[in-house]
This record gives sequence, C-alpha cells and structure tokens, in this order.
Amino acid sequence: MSTVVLPGSFDPFTLGHLDLTRRAAALGHHVIIAVSHNPAKKGTLDLEARLGAITAVLAEAGLAEQVEARTLPRGLLVDFCRDVGAGAVVRGLRSQLDLAYEEPMARMNHHLAGVETLFLLTDATWSHISSSLVREVHALGGDVSDMIPAPSLDALHAAAAVS
Ligand code: PNS
Repeated sequence: MSTVVLPGSFDPFTLGHLDLTRRAAALGHHVIIAVSHNPAKKGTLDLEARLGAITAVLAEAGLAEQVEARTLPRGLLVDFCRDVGAGAVVRGLRSQLDLAYEEPMARMNHHLAGVETLFLLTDATWSHISSSLVREVHALGGDVSDMIPAPSLDALHAAAAVS
C-alpha cells in the first residue's frame, strides 16, 4: 500500500474533504491527512480542534485503519512527504480556479523533490463548498449541517461559544 498525503487547512473539514479522503483510500492508498498551521490564514478553529474533529470523523466513517490525521509541521510539504514515506500528494479540484491555485504548488513540489500531485475532481455534490464559505455561513447564523460532518459542526459550535 503506498502512502499519500492529503494536506490542507481543513478549517473546518467538510463533506467534500471526506469524499476526497474516501476516494483516495479507495484507490488503495494509506492516506495521511496533514493539517497545516497556516498562521497567515485567519481561521476559526485551532489546530487541536481541527485534528480532533478529523480523527472523530475518520472513526465514524470507518476509515481509521487506512487514514490518519497528523499535524503538518512548519516547513516544506515535500520534507513531510519524505519523512512519512509518501511519494504523492492528493488534492481536490472544484473548478479551474482551483487548478490555477494548485498548478504552481504541484510543479514546485515536483521540482523540489519529485513529489507527484494526484488531482481528484471534486464530486459535483460538494463543488460549491469551501471551508471559508462554511465559516462565513455559520458565523452569520446559517445552517451548515449538510455541508460538514457532525464533529466539525461540534467544533465550530465550541469555538463560537468561547469567542
Ligand atoms: O487547504 P489549503 O489552505 O489550500 O492548503 C494549503 C497547503 C497546506 C497545501 C499549502 O499551504 C502547502 O503545501 N503548504 C506547505 C508549504 C510548502 O511546502 N510550500 C512550498 C511548496 S508549494
């Protein structure tokens, strides 16, 4: 079984992310979800809350044997890939805008260390969903319960309660 890294902010982890995870695992990979610090991004959930929610989602989805969630340490993604023995990164594409964002990173990771990027097209059911829109809708009182798994929703509620 080859190891692949699914990196991202996951703030919060959405049903689109879960679909991507399932599909990467279904290809026979051991999947490491690498949760970035990304202090430059103004988010809602701290790293521990995101990791905790993803771990709970994986357990509920029956994916815990094949998929694990870890912190993506500060530094290069390719160094993390080397450290965990992964030859490829998995990323989802919702649209051509995503491709424009992803292409330079994929080329850079390949240039730096020969790390490949496997792109999976986001299922149309989830292609309008982004973590940032989920945060905005939730912050403005909208219902996001059909866009994110229950542990992500619990984490958003908990963060809102303390802010
Ligand atoms: O979910 P996001 O925020 O779009 O994920 C971005 C992420 C974590 C994939 C990206 O910021 C990243 O790869 N960070 C690692 C830093 C790095 O290696 N940069 C240089 C090569 S592109």
